[in-house]
Amino acid sequence: MEQLSLFHHVMRAYAANPESRLANSSLYETVAREAGLSRAQLEERDPVGRSGQPHNLIKRKIRWFQQTLRSLGVIERVPDARGVWTLTDAGKKKLRNIQPSAAVVGFSTELGVAIWSDCNRVFDRWDEPICLALTSPPYPLARPRAYGGPSIEDYSDFICRVVEPIVKNLVAGGNVVLNVGDVFEPGLPAKSTYIEELILALRKRLGLYLMNRIVWESNKPPGPIQWASKQRMQLNEGYEHVLWFCNDPGRCLADNRRVLEPHTQRHRQLIERGGEPRHAVYGDGAYRLRPGSYQNPTDGTILRTVWKLSNNCASQRRYKQMARALGLEPHGASMPLALAQRIVRFMTEIDQLVVDPMGGSMTTGLAAELEGRRWTCTERVLDYVLGGAQRFLDRPGFDLNLPLCGASYE
Ligand SMILES: C[S@@+](CC[C@H](N)C(=O)[O-])C[C@H]1O[C@@H](n2cnc3c(N)ncnc32)[C@H](O)[C@@H]1O
Repeated sequence: MEQLSLFHHVMRAYAANPESRLANSSLYETVAREAGLSRAQLEERDPVGRSGQPHNLIKRKIRWFQQTLRSLGVIERVPDARGVWTLTDAGKKKLRNIQPSAAVVGFSTELGVAIWSDCNRVFDRWDEPICLALTSPPYPLARPRAYGGPSIEDYSDFICRVVEPIVKNLVAGGNVVLNVGDVFEPGLPAKSTYIEELILALRKRLGLYLMNRIVWESNKPPGPIQWASKQRMQLNEGYEHVLWFCNDPGRCLADNRRVLEPHTQRHRQLIERGGEPRHAVYGDGAYRLRPGSYQNPTDGTILRTVWKLSNNCASQRRYKQMARALGLEPHGASMPLALAQRIVRFMTEIDQLVVDPMGGSMTTGLAAELEGRRWTCTERVLDYVLGGAQRFLDRPGFDLNLPLCGASYE
């Protein structure tokens, strides 16, 4: 955790002075101040290696992190000035966003890995069978969130580009699940049909079949208030879409027995009484009840397609607190863990591989981890990768790699 914040302080030191050059001496002092290190600690020397030569480990670590930023194209050496570095043009623009050409392992556990990277950088060269891709892409909002997002016109293209390399590696019967939300036509109280267009694009361009449109009824604030609360023409929003696709529906890996709900008391009593006593036909003959229907005990109730799951999740709250405590920007649109866990359990078996190309605070990774599935998440905003790491501190094999490597993931 200390290393994590030290790396972050090195980045902040450069971000705080975008136009100026930073000599290493000032960098050491800034980082030490931000990290709450005393001057004595900053100057401390410890024996290193077989020779036992005394070295200053903190300054060495700071230089190490500086090299990571260099290898990511965020900073560059100022010519003819020893130990002076400045932000590259790309670094000035987007210090927080990884360069498209770089990919760095953020952290890993025995089961999975989170990579600080643009998703295409990783999945374009992927060659391991994937069983499930679960992701919540940025919505095409009129006022995008802090991490940005594609415009509504580019949306289908954007998603197809992200999903295509994953689909190439999807096992037969593998699933792709997208959590997306409705948006309104600009200036109108009418819904955009971008979701319908997306479904068609995934079918036509990538051959994915729509398995179901699951409705996730959540308790998040209803906004935008313009059409419902002010103009009173619309209704308050109450759900998001969980779109479920499969490349080979006949061999779909999903199994609803892994996500059965407990029977209601009424249903248990019905079973105990030996099932239905009535003979009934209703719905103009569409449904028939015979005496004895529902008499066989089953393990639970099959889930319906409307999932009522709170948006307010203890795991997210803890994550946000920990991220803030480290001075990291917490993610503003993370999924509830229960939603991701349900999907992971429903659609995969233990040890199968789950990926999330736009991992945010790593909820999909955590769900897979807790369900004993292998996982890989990519995320291009460093704060989210580092904050997400805090959710895995107690997981077997947890290793924070980011500060230790400047190498690309090849
Ligand atoms: C809605 S959020 C995902 C939230 C996530 N499900 C969670 O629970 O925290 C979308 C994320 O996609 C990331 N993102 C957008 N484009 C990306 C890309 N090309 N490669 C990697 N990450 C990307 C954004 O930075 C953002 O964190």
